[in-house]
Amino acid sequence: MKLKLTDFIRDQYTSLSLPSPSQSQLTNKTILITGGNTGLGFETAVHFASMAQPLAPARVVITCRTAEKGAEAVARIVGRAGGRAVAVAVAGGVDVGGGQGKGKGEVEGEGEGEGEGQGQTAEEDGKVRVEARVLELTDFASVRAFVDAFERAHERLDILLASAAVSPTKLGFTADGWETTTQVNILSPALLTLLLIPCMMRTAHRYKTTPRILLATSELHHMATLDAAMLDSGRFFRMYGYKDDMDIKT
Ligand SMILES: NC(=O)c1ccc[n+]([C@@H]2O[C@H](COP(=O)([O-])OP(=O)(O)OC[C@H]3O[C@@H](n4cnc5c(N)ncnc54)[C@H](OP(=O)(O)O)[C@@H]3O)[C@@H](O)[C@H]2O)c1
Repeated sequence: MKLKLTDFIRDQYTSLSLPSPSQSQLTNKTILITGGNTGLGFETAVHFASMAQPLAPARVVITCRTAEKGAEAVARIVGRAGGRAVAVAVAGGVDVGGGQGKGKGEVEGEGEGEGEGQGQTAEEDGKVRVEARVLELTDFASVRAFVDAFERAHERLDILLASAAVSPTKLGFTADGWETTTQVNILSPALLTLLLIPCMMRTAHRYKTTPRILLATSELHHMATLDAAMLDSGRFFRMYGYKDDMDIKT
């Protein structure tokens, strides 16, 4: 249904309450949330990290643009989880201390304990493990490196929430040559999701479960109009958001 401007404005002034704690059985599951240091991603991480056993997931992995933001966010998530979660240090990613991983500055994937089989079940203390990993969506290489590291560390992924996004007010381009919003909000989340699908398929087969992919979006997309010629061109994204192919009207 097409969103009307009046509906959109009304929604902005409608207050919503936070959802009740999830009653889904997430036992032993691993949840990955991009953009977990703020906004919807952060609150979703707090929500899952605060779940009580026996329904709580084993692990919540958030992504941030820097290790420092990740460490700070993990501490806030664990602080909000009321004793139900514990921080885990990640080799070469984010060292928050007190976890089971390796120290800050060590190279990811080279240490012990990062192999297959680690982390697929809840720890004996029943607390949700919360960790942060670095992911920069303006850079396709970062997306690939993130997935490599994630798969080395975790053999299970049950829920992916792609929440990270930008809404810049000025036209800008990434080093990969794409308009920033296009790469951060569309192309990199798509690449991330596609690269993680094999891990989710293995999870589905091994644990007889149904992994879920959630992509945060905006209802404002109802108001967008797209050029039919571009849509039919067979190279829509190039014309829509690649620096050498865009028809930039200033
Ligand atoms: N809030 C709303 O009213 C609203 C409305 C419609 C749709 N949405 C959608 O809901 C999702 C979450 O929105 P939000 O308001 O919670 O967003 P937010 O508070 O602005 O948080 C965005 C997150 O994305 C991260 N991010 C930005 N650029 C990145 C990059 N290049 N690489 C990796 N991560 C990057 C940010 O990291 P830094 O902190 O480092 O910048 C932050 O963690 C988005 O997909 C948004 O489009 C939100």
